[in-house]
Amino acid sequence: MAAAPPLRRTDSARGEFSPLKHFVVAKKKISDVFEQLLNYAKETSEFVEEISGNKALGNIATQDQKLEIQAYADKLAIIKEVLARRHMKVAFFGRTSNGKSTVINAMLRDRVLPSGIGHTTNCFLSVEGTDDDKAYLKTEGSEEEQSIKTVNQLAHALHMDESLDAGCLVRVFWPKTKCALLRDDLVLVDSPGTDVTSQLDSWIDKFCLDADVFVLVANSESTLMNTEKHFFHKVNERLSKPNIFILNNRWDASANEPEYMEDVRKQHTDRCVNFLVEELKVVDREQAPNRIFFVSAKEVLNSRMQRAQGMPETGGALAEGFKERLKEFQSFERRFEECISQSAVKTKFEQHTIRAKQITEKVKSIMDAINIEAAEKRVAALEDREYQMDRLEFVKNQLNLLIGDIKQKITAISEEVEDKVSNAMGEEICRLHVIVDEFHTDFHPSPHVLKIYKSELLTHVEEGMGKNLAFRCSSAINASVQSSQQYMIESMLPLLPSTVQSQVHMLVPSRKFDLSYDLNCATLCSDFQENIEFQFSLGWTSLVHRFLGSANAQRALRLVDQNFQVSRPALPPAQTPSSGPSSITAPPPNSETAVMTQEDLMLAVATNVASLTSRTSMSVVIVGGVVWRTVGWRLIALSASLYGLLYLYERLTWTTKAKERSLKRQFVDYASEKLQLIVSFTSANCSHQVQQEMATTFARLCQQVDQTQKELEAEIRQLTAKIDQLETVQSRSKSLRHKATELEKQLEAFTAQYLQPQQ
Ligand code: GTP
Ligand code: MG
Repeated sequence: MAAAPPLRRTDSARGEFSPLKHFVVAKKKISDVFEQLLNYAKETSEFVEEISGNKALGNIATQDQKLEIQAYADKLAIIKEVLARRHMKVAFFGRTSNGKSTVINAMLRDRVLPSGIGHTTNCFLSVEGTDDDKAYLKTEGSEEEQSIKTVNQLAHALHMDESLDAGCLVRVFWPKTKCALLRDDLVLVDSPGTDVTSQLDSWIDKFCLDADVFVLVANSESTLMNTEKHFFHKVNERLSKPNIFILNNRWDASANEPEYMEDVRKQHTDRCVNFLVEELKVVDREQAPNRIFFVSAKEVLNSRMQRAQGMPETGGALAEGFKERLKEFQSFERRFEECISQSAVKTKFEQHTIRAKQITEKVKSIMDAINIEAAEKRVAALEDREYQMDRLEFVKNQLNLLIGDIKQKITAISEEVEDKVSNAMGEEICRLHVIVDEFHTDFHPSPHVLKIYKSELLTHVEEGMGKNLAFRCSSAINASVQSSQQYMIESMLPLLPSTVQSQVHMLVPSRKFDLSYDLNCATLCSDFQENIEFQFSLGWTSLVHRFLGSANAQRALRLVDQNFQVSRPALPPAQTPSSGPSSITAPPPNSETAVMTQEDLMLAVATNVASLTSRTSMSVVIVGGVVWRTVGWRLIALSASLYGLLYLYERLTWTTKAKERSLKRQFVDYASEKLQLIVSFTSANCSHQVQQEMATTFARLCQQVDQTQKELEAEIRQLTAKIDQLETVQSRSKSLRHKATELEKQLEAFTAQYLQPQQ
């Protein structure tokens, strides 16, 4: 007896309340989740790809992680495709002519499959929905869509095709618009009679492994056959607890013998329950009656088709017990739909849901790992930046301090050098005569030789003095320049770029600093004019010199000279014999200066003579008178001869040697005077050289410090960019992790709603 629950729906209303919707909705939900999952996996994959490609960030994501996520994305894409093709599948088995095809037609409410006496169905036939308006079929191994208009055509086509054997599959595509069952993703599989084949194993492998429900169409006019049982035993071996329904078809025939009906029904029921519960153990004893139905597919199909054509359901004569049989068929349909949708949801979606959960779990852990890695790197970068900033600050401050300090040092050393050089020069000038005395070369008063002599003398003095100055100053100055440079380098060393620190010697000029004194004696003393004419010490010129002092004497002598020239106007001034050292530099005479100097001279002579007369003339006259009286002419004669002798002596000793000596003496005086003038200039020059040297070194070091600062600034900029990027990575990995959690929640919800055993 079938425990058929009261049915609220009518045939025309089926679909709206169809339990098959459970599968349809679940499929839509899980497909949505997988769509999201796939997008999510693509997003994560791109993210990981992006960060693993970013060398600046270091290895936040490993190559393995990248490949892993890509593999997940691929896997999800495949699952999504598989899900889209997922449907519920029911397979009908039973002996030939039991009415398998008729049952399917009754369920489809149309004569879709051919049925008849004898082996009608000669191969496997699946019926699935198509969105097309027209029905068509596809034979195995061919994508060709063969259109079919009528069932006869289909039957004809199948029978004509000799290549088809019992193990082949022909797919019949039936417009969804014509049949609600097909709209709900149900595929019905018809089979040839189980008694026609010995290839049960291959049938099972090919058609049964993905079936959600098996319907055994039995013939209620006979008992369950071993061939049928055998087949289900084999199915049961391959699948765990297959869902099996048993339809005892042709129950209308029992109406002919109503007196035995109950007994027959009970007998059949007992055997079927026994088969399901005891033999196959696929269902509990309590649940077993819900799997066993007594129906007449032929009646149901007929009545449904007539109804569809607007005629009375029974086509006129109501067979005995038709209503009950119809109800029982509907009851079967409902049980079957509930069972198949529940079962299909579980078998078709559970594994994928679990897989999806595993994938999200893995992706989540990868995101966590990336987040942690990015966080660690960020902290390290922050610390690094802090350090670099401190260093930059230190370099800046230190440089400011050092600039002041080193400037002072440079000033001090410059001053020291100036003093040193100026002292040394002063001393050298005092010792100039020693250098001049050391000079020996051929001397001859002739102008030509003299010229050479003087120029050589100048070179000698320049060299000698330069050497002496170098001896006195250079080594000390060099040492102090070097030590100052050393000091500079040492104090600035910590501020230099690390690459430069190791080769700091490159910054200091490799040549030794050499002070150049640059006395330039040749130009300095180019005006020097010696006077090596013989001059009697008691001669007129000397006396004038003695009485008037050398300045006045020169003027006086020049005046005399001019008078001489005036008296000989025809002579050009260049031919004037030189009478003193100043004659060359004397301006060309003109009457005005001549008058002035004449007046000056007269004044000077008058003053000198006046003082001479005033003071001594009286005493000379008196003494002269007295002398004259006492010694007389003899003394005068003696004096005169003494004067003459003296003159003779001086004239004789006025040799070349003496002339050279005199020249040297004059030169020493002249050069001393001139050199004295350039002492401050030369020492300032030396000091400037030292200052220059030090400043160059310092500038070079400063440049390097500048380089350090620039490098530090660049590094800080880079680190800041890196920190920003890492922050982005962190927040993205975090948000991706949240997304994974969201998806996990959806998967959980799906599991709770569809996959957990319903109480
Ligand atoms: P094969 O395809 O040859 O294996 O047979 P099948 O199991 O598909 O049987 P099919 O549906 O072709 O039906 C065989 C014959 O039984 C047909 O003539 C049907 O009209 C008839 N038939 C099917 N179901 C019923 C039923 O419930 N009652 C009666 N009286 N006849 C039926
Ligand atoms: Mg058939």
